Amino acid sequence: MKLLVLHGPNLNLLGTREPGIYGSQTLADINVSLEKLAVELGCTLTFFQSNSEGELIDAIQNAASGCRGILMNPAAYTHTSIAIRDALSAVGLPCVEVHLSNIHRREMFRHTSMIAPVAVGQICGFGSDSYMLGLRALFNYIKFQ
Ligand code: DQA
Repeated sequence: MKLLVLHGPNLNLLGTREPGIYGSQTLADINVSLEKLAVELGCTLTFFQSNSEGELIDAIQNAASGCRGILMNPAAYTHTSIAIRDALSAVGLPCVEVHLSNIHRREMFRHTSMIAPVAVGQICGFGSDSYMLGLRALFNYIKFQ
């Protein structure tokens, strides 16, 4: 089972970016932990981070050939991007939306997710564990659907 892990804008700065909110792990640290879990579960991961909406959309479209699902932290595009939502809807791959922080207990503008209505589910508020829980959830969803 091949899965795509997508990281949105500013997540390349994890480790130094507002550590009180996002923790001290870097994106590379998170990817290493995901890779270890993927080995345990028996799936293969492809990782991609971009600060631009179009590149994330291209990655979603390309995932349609070969990948079974998408684990995505759309970062700020969560709250604004109808285009990313449409891309996910168009390819029809199961997507689990994850966030390090609990977006529902932060500013009002973070309470809305354009992605949630086209995602299998959303996991937020558990720091890097959100990604691990999200990977398990996506893997099991695909395996047992
Ligand atoms: C985030 C939450 C978003 O609101 C924010 O714009 C991010 C990170 C998170 O992982 O907590 O960049 O997606």
